[in-house]
Parts: sequence; C-alpha cells; structure tokens
Amino acid sequence: MNNSVNLDKALEKFRKILEEQLIRVEDMKSQGDFVDYASLDKIIIGVCGGDGIGPTITAAAREVLEYILADEVSAGKIEFRDIGGLTLENRIAHGKAIPDDVLAELKACHIVLKGPTTTPQKGSGLPNIESANVAMRRELDLFANIRPVRVPEEGIDWCIFRENTEGAYAVGSKGFNVTDDIAVDFTITTKQGSTRIAEIAYDYARKNGKTRVSLVTKANVIKTTDGNFLEDCHRVAESYPEITTDEWYADIMTAKLVDTKRRRDFQVLLLPNLYGDIISDEAAEFQGGVGTAGCANVGKRYAMFEAIHGSAPRMVNEGRAKFADPCSMLRAAVMLLSHIGYQTEADKLARALDICTLEEKKLVITGRDTGATTKEFSDYVLETLKSLG
Ligand code: IPM
Ligand code: MG
Repeated sequence: MNNSVNLDKALEKFRKILEEQLIRVEDMKSQGDFVDYASLDKIIIGVCGGDGIGPTITAAAREVLEYILADEVSAGKIEFRDIGGLTLENRIAHGKAIPDDVLAELKACHIVLKGPTTTPQKGSGLPNIESANVAMRRELDLFANIRPVRVPEEGIDWCIFRENTEGAYAVGSKGFNVTDDIAVDFTITTKQGSTRIAEIAYDYARKNGKTRVSLVTKANVIKTTDGNFLEDCHRVAESYPEITTDEWYADIMTAKLVDTKRRRDFQVLLLPNLYGDIISDEAAEFQGGVGTAGCANVGKRYAMFEAIHGSAPRMVNEGRAKFADPCSMLRAAVMLLSHIGYQTEADKLARALDICTLEEKKLVITGRDTGATTKEFSDYVLETLKSLG
C-alpha cells in the first residue's frame, strides 16, 4: 500500500476518534448531579466475581457486606444481585470487553462490587479484547478512581485521586499501525474531565481536613494534555484557598514515595489516568502490597468498588487462589458502605480490618500455604466485626 493511502486511512481513523470525543464532551457538559442514595427506595448492588482469584475474594467481601447490611436487605432497602457474565470466557465468546446483556444488567444496578478481571494483551494467544475494567469505567462514566493507602506506624495517610476515563486509557484500544513501521496511540485530556476529577479531590481534601494536594504529571514532556490537566486543576484549586497545591513530575514522585523523610508529608495525590495507575501500585506496596488495597470508581450516576490489582492468573496456575488476600475487596467494601451513606458501618469494618491486619494479626495472609486462606481470613474479619458489636 502506498503512503498516501495509509495516511488517508489513518486520518479517517483519527477523525472518528475525535468525533467520538466531541460527543463525550457534550455528554459530560449535560450531566446532572451525583445520585442521592438516601432518596432511593432501594439500592441495588450488582456483584461480579471476575476472573482468577476474583470470585474467591469477591465472595469474601460480599459475605461481610451481607452481614453488615442484613437488616437493610430484609427490609428490601438493599438488594445484592449476581451478575454472572463478566468472565473472560464469556467476554471472548462475545468478542467484547463487556457483552451487551451484561452491560444492561450493570446499568440496572446503582452500585457494582467487582472482582478483578483478566485483560488479554497482544501476543498472549487470547483475542486482544479491551480490558473489562477500562470498558466499565468508560461505559458507566466512573471518572474518579479513589485509592487510599495508609501505614499508620510510618505516618503514611495518602488518598490518590486517579482520573479514570481519559488520558492514555480513553482510547487505549483504538491506536493503530499507520504503516508496517509506524504505530500510534492517543492520549486525551478534556477540560471537563480534568475539572471534575480535580473538584472531587479538592472537595475530599476540604471535607477531611487535608491541607495539601499534590498534582502529578509529566507536563515537562507531555506538554499539551498534561499541561492542560495542570491548568484545570489549578483553576479548581482557586476555590480552595486553604489548601496548598504543589506539582510533581511522575518520575520524581515515584522516587519521593520511597523517601521515608518526605513521603509522610503527602496527603492527596491528583493524577491523570496512567500515572495514577502506576503510582497507586507503588503506594500500595508500602501498605503490604496491592492485595491490601481497594478502590472506589465513582461517577455521577454509578459507582463501582474493586481491588486495585489484577486477577493474579499466576496464583491460580500455581494452585494458590485460595490463599489470595481478600483485604483489597474488603477495603473496597468499606468505601462502598461509606459511598452509599452507611458511614458508621464503614468505620466499623475499617476498624475490624485494622485490628486484623495491623494490631492483633492472629492470622496472616502470605499468598501461599505459609499463611491463612482467604476464607479463614475473612472469617477472622467477620468474627472481629461481630466482637465490635
Ligand atoms: C487497575 C488495573 C487496571 C488498570 C488494569 C487491570 C486494566 O491495573 O485498576 O489499576 O490499568 O487500570
Ligand atoms: Mg493498576
């Protein structure tokens, strides 16, 4: 194929991407306010186990939530609903990151509790379909990925606000080979997208007595999109004069997070999607690993709660799935309770988790047969919870 034909084809694809993004911006502009869960007759929580270790750790979190919310469930105020079709097999069978009927089921819920899903990648031998996570965040417009990390004895108390629908992820599955030699991917930043994640981060900071928000980009190199992200965050910051804003490049931030003298000063980190992905894994490592970290994916209409990690196929292949740490999903459950207005219950579950993982440590999870199984550990959390009354 000659170069001008290649170029025309590439430009056509690029045009399509931009047209879709223009529509997305209009959608963002016309969105209403956040759901008021207190005004709903019933809150429906859809549960997807996912792949790999997902079903095991999701079942643990569901059991604990069902215990905590038992009265609400019997009163018909909360319903747990199984959503079975978000498995890798079913996604491959439909050739889609989220099959249409599964997406319709998800959209009929208010909240989703989701186990990790396996993402095939180029050369893995599996069809190279888009990540179900990324698709769900986009389809439900879950723009804020909120990832707390806490290590009290080291003075670490961070809350990471990762933009969740834009950046390198917005059209991550829509890059293409222009010729045999040239490949392109795209990163996208919009004013609406940056503003809404900044607003939620600064709002969290204000409501939680935080005094500092750190913006993390590579605006020295990725000048336009990261540059705009910074500008939009600073504009939002003007409405929060009591909060100090500082800027970091993502590379030095990864270094500073291992600097024990400086890292305790960080409070709220606000980042574009890809940097948020990378830095949240690093941050979670100080807390005991990604298996200990959960997150909230929040949008105006829907919210989804999950572990920050993947489905750990290696653990499954090595027969270690039953030793997976349920704490990531249990921490996600804390955030779920808080999000739907059950703050006392959220605090109690967080307290039980702190007792089990930081203080008493009667059982320890090691991810292998040297430690407790998922079930043993979640039973321990449940017993601790019951003892708190
Ligand atoms: C996360 C995960 C996902 C991501 C993967 C599974 C697609 O790493 O939630 O951080 O990159 O966002
Ligand atoms: Mg990640």
